[in-house]
Amino acid sequence: MCGIIGIAGRADITAPLMEGLARLEYRGYDSAGLAVVGSEDAEPKRRRCVGQVKALAQNLRTQGLSGEVGIAHTRWATHGTPSEENAHPLVSGTIALVHNGIIENFRPLRSELEAAGYRFESNTDSEVIVHLIHHQLVATEDLAEAVRAVVKRLQGQFALAVISSSDPDCIVAVRSGSPLVLGCGDGQNSVASDASALAGLARQAVFLEEGDLATIAADRIAIEDRNAAPVTRSPVPLKSGQEVRLGQYEYHLQREIFAHPDSIRAVLADRLQGDRVSAFDDFAGLLDRVEGISIAACGSSYLAAEVARHWFEELAGLPCQAEIASEYRYRAQVIQPNTLFLTLSQSGETADTLAAFKKAQGQGYLTTLSMCNAPLSSLPRLSDIEFMLNAGPEISVASTKVVSASLVALLLLAMTLARRNGLTSSREAELVGALRALPEQVQQVLQRDADFEQQAVAIASQNHALFIGRRAFYPIALEGALKLKELSYIHAEGHAAGELKHGPLALVDENMPVIALAPADDLISKLESNLQEIKARGGRLYVITDQSLASRLQAELECAVIPLPDTHAVTAPILYLVSVQLLACHVGLHRNTNLDQPRNLAKSVTVE
Ligand code: F6R
Repeated sequence: MCGIIGIAGRADITAPLMEGLARLEYRGYDSAGLAVVGSEDAEPKRRRCVGQVKALAQNLRTQGLSGEVGIAHTRWATHGTPSEENAHPLVSGTIALVHNGIIENFRPLRSELEAAGYRFESNTDSEVIVHLIHHQLVATEDLAEAVRAVVKRLQGQFALAVISSSDPDCIVAVRSGSPLVLGCGDGQNSVASDASALAGLARQAVFLEEGDLATIAADRIAIEDRNAAPVTRSPVPLKSGQEVRLGQYEYHLQREIFAHPDSIRAVLADRLQGDRVSAFDDFAGLLDRVEGISIAACGSSYLAAEVARHWFEELAGLPCQAEIASEYRYRAQVIQPNTLFLTLSQSGETADTLAAFKKAQGQGYLTTLSMCNAPLSSLPRLSDIEFMLNAGPEISVASTKVVSASLVALLLLAMTLARRNGLTSSREAELVGALRALPEQVQQVLQRDADFEQQAVAIASQNHALFIGRRAFYPIALEGALKLKELSYIHAEGHAAGELKHGPLALVDENMPVIALAPADDLISKLESNLQEIKARGGRLYVITDQSLASRLQAELECAVIPLPDTHAVTAPILYLVSVQLLACHVGLHRNTNLDQPRNLAKSVTVE
């Protein structure tokens, strides 16, 4: 998704701006650009290019650029194709601007500006803002005042950073629906769309609140709230960024899949005490009152919530509703008393999840809890209770190791809530034992890498695939289908195995790979009937199952079988999660896709 970095310094800031842009690359983008001003410049100097930040760096090496104040951007196209004209910064005379978000009323504003004589060079919604600011500067000479006036006319969500060669000492930045964070450094201050871009630039971060406008110069930062009243926002220390090396891997995605055991260890660290879960001890009184759970999340985080729904209902005996955040925000809810509202998000910045959270606030929920992997991001800062997943930076656009960390976190919560509903200490000890054994069992799944690779070769030659599972393994089937789509561009669907005969079975023939998740549980005989129905129609079966069942299923179904280590029934979905991600990764490798940056996708989806 689009990323913003801006720096106001006293010496040339082009190199640190480029480093900031490189730190934003993980979000996914299709073009990049920067604009700088110096005290001698009549207009901002700008460079833009389609594609990678390194292409922009090459351009700067050959053509040079310098300035003391500047803004830069990675763009993920929403309005207008990825092209140099549509790349940010956008310029109008003395003004340059970068924008994250969407301007919903850009069409009437564009007509108005065209009638006033402005010529548009891009197809973006953003260009109206820069021309409006330019136009407004006829009425006032003050850049911050002009930006404030223009913001009042914009509908949608946005984060803006603006520079002007008439006011070459500062950046004016506004947060309205899209996050912005300021970095306080020595002799230089900065602004960025997420705190990770500020690593090495600043010692402290200041998070802007909704409606805030900041004026950032090398030696001072001034913030006004939405009513233009001066405000102080408390700074928080900024940890130096963890450097992420690829090591033996070609892609971050592979490295992150092989980091599942570490991410599970990290989320468990300090959250178990002997045989009991201690993760939520500080909130015991509040959580004792929980009578239901409502979870809002997107994508793989939503699918993790769907798995956890089974734990909340089966272990804790509590009603649980998991919902896609983009649906939650536009739907009428019936909120039962003492319901816990939970958001789950790797990035903590997903626009739909944030909007669902904001809708939930003040609606009578008992409390809000966010499970998140990105420190200092919006959701944990806004929630009553924050639970950090601690899985370490996830660079690849497709989420992997954070999904297993999310599942473990959700299981810890389900176990905590289950105590009130009869979870005995011996059963809790048994489940804690299963959690402690997980990293090693996941490691054993990863050691079967060659088996997954072998099956992936055949799947990679097909254009469609089905994943099936039952109960908590149904959302894992959906996750398998989601990952296969993202990583290999194969059309894939996930289905509840019992639903096949109600429609999807019509798709099954000798060209349809069907990946079945077949744990050794009480539903295995039902699932085997589903598998026989697929076999009878010539479908190509790939069965992922527990070690204890592998040889029998192979003999009976005469199909490819990948055995996983036998594990506890409650934690088994986590092993199956890792297995479908690993399979999708190998299919993607065989199809030679960019595993870290799947086409059209972005990490941290900060637009609706
Ligand atoms: C899928 C994937 C996405 C994210 C979704 C939510 O591989 O990565 O579906 O899970 O965009 O993102 P977060 O968890 O950051 O809210």
